[in-house]
Amino acid sequence: MIEMSDFIASGFPVRRKRWFVDNAFLCDRLNSEHPRRIVRQGYVAPGRRAVSQPKSILLIIGGGVAAYKALLLIRLLKGHGVGVRAVLTTGGAQFVTPLSVGALSGEKVFTDLFDLTDEAEMGHIQLSRAADLVVVVPATADLMAKMAGGHADDLATTLLLATDKDVLIAPAMNVRMWEHAATQANLATLIARGVGVVGPDEGDMACGEYGPGRMAEPEVIFAAIMARLDGGARDLVGKRIIVTSGPTHEPIDPVRYIANRSSGKQGNAIAAALAARGAEVVLVSGPVRLTPPAGVTVQAVESAREMLAATMDALPADAVVCAAAVADYRVAEVADQKLKKADGSNGRTLTLVENPDILKIVSKLPFGDRPALVVGFAAETHDVIAYASAKRVRKRCDWIVANDVSQGVFGSDDNRVTVIDDAGAEDWPSMGKDAVADRLAERIAKALTG
Ligand code: CTP
Repeated sequence: MIEMSDFIASGFPVRRKRWFVDNAFLCDRLNSEHPRRIVRQGYVAPGRRAVSQPKSILLIIGGGVAAYKALLLIRLLKGHGVGVRAVLTTGGAQFVTPLSVGALSGEKVFTDLFDLTDEAEMGHIQLSRAADLVVVVPATADLMAKMAGGHADDLATTLLLATDKDVLIAPAMNVRMWEHAATQANLATLIARGVGVVGPDEGDMACGEYGPGRMAEPEVIFAAIMARLDGGARDLVGKRIIVTSGPTHEPIDPVRYIANRSSGKQGNAIAAALAARGAEVVLVSGPVRLTPPAGVTVQAVESAREMLAATMDALPADAVVCAAAVADYRVAEVADQKLKKADGSNGRTLTLVENPDILKIVSKLPFGDRPALVVGFAAETHDVIAYASAKRVRKRCDWIVANDVSQGVFGSDDNRVTVIDDAGAEDWPSMGKDAVADRLAERIAKALTG
């Protein structure tokens, strides 16, 4: 039986009521005879799917309130036959005890680089390489900074520097710390080196603020670990890819704009799928109501001209995927005050001018500046293949992903596309937008890596 006191090391600030609520909830979950079925990120049920070969992870528990979630994660992993050897940082030990971590993992818990007994039993180099995957939960701002800077001043950072295995981190920190340019630069560095990132989520935080920075739930981290252990492809490490996504808003006056129905779901899914394969992804997104995918740099824009500028700024890149539904026209003269109805007038005429075509501009960049692969989308309501093929030639992109938007694709989770390239048209069956994104990412990886 696991008691709440097991999680709380001496000195923990007991005034935090929410912490106890969380811990009581966690105790219930850990003591349950029937651990929750995993339904997120496609992971289905305990016992249904275990990793084919016995696998093990090295779990580094950082110093943050979210450290308690590491205990549930250990339970989930052990329940699916994954070995867990845990390392508690000094900060981590302020939030969970070696005793509870050891009880759940069934293994000795490593806490200090200079513990001579540990060094005699297993050197830190061996410890860093014995596992199939290294997972950092929670990855605090400090741990991420140390990883990015190559520090090795305690056991956890030494192991992270010495390992030759894949590393997956689950960041958790205050929203301002997460959004700070230093953290975002460290994140970009880690992603560029192939470190996998799961979360953070957006929501209420222990510090009372709201926003991105809350650690992903244990089930989500668990699913990401299982995907890694199952050998998810990492064939885009070292590649930089720009994805445009969502609609654009073209202002009429300070309160009105021209827009379209794009939800940005397909573009977001493509960015996430490319990042999952290790690409460094810049997502240039028009206004959408979506949480940005983890591990992706987001440039939020409003208008077509801003989208063009952000895309050009993000170059050079190995590939550009133009999934945005860019407004073809903008108002010639944007009123700087709200337009008023004129009494007795018979309607109003707006003069529209054409927006720059981002896809065409990128495709026509001179050799050397042009990304090796440029992918466009063609949303059509009729004569889909004919219009899309003509668009590919006119805009000089390499592939065009054509979809029929006559039947409720906007906002839906499914899509049915035809990918057109030099070799012809490839019809894909109707599938979820995530699946379209995965398949497209796989095709892009093959094209870029031969
Ligand atoms: N596109 C773009 N910039 C624009 C217009 C379109 O980058 N100003 C890109 C879209 O992101 C998409 C492709 O071009 O990848 C085709 O977009 P679509 O709206 O279907 O084509 P249009 O050229 O606007 O043609 P039409 O609206 O007449 O079908």
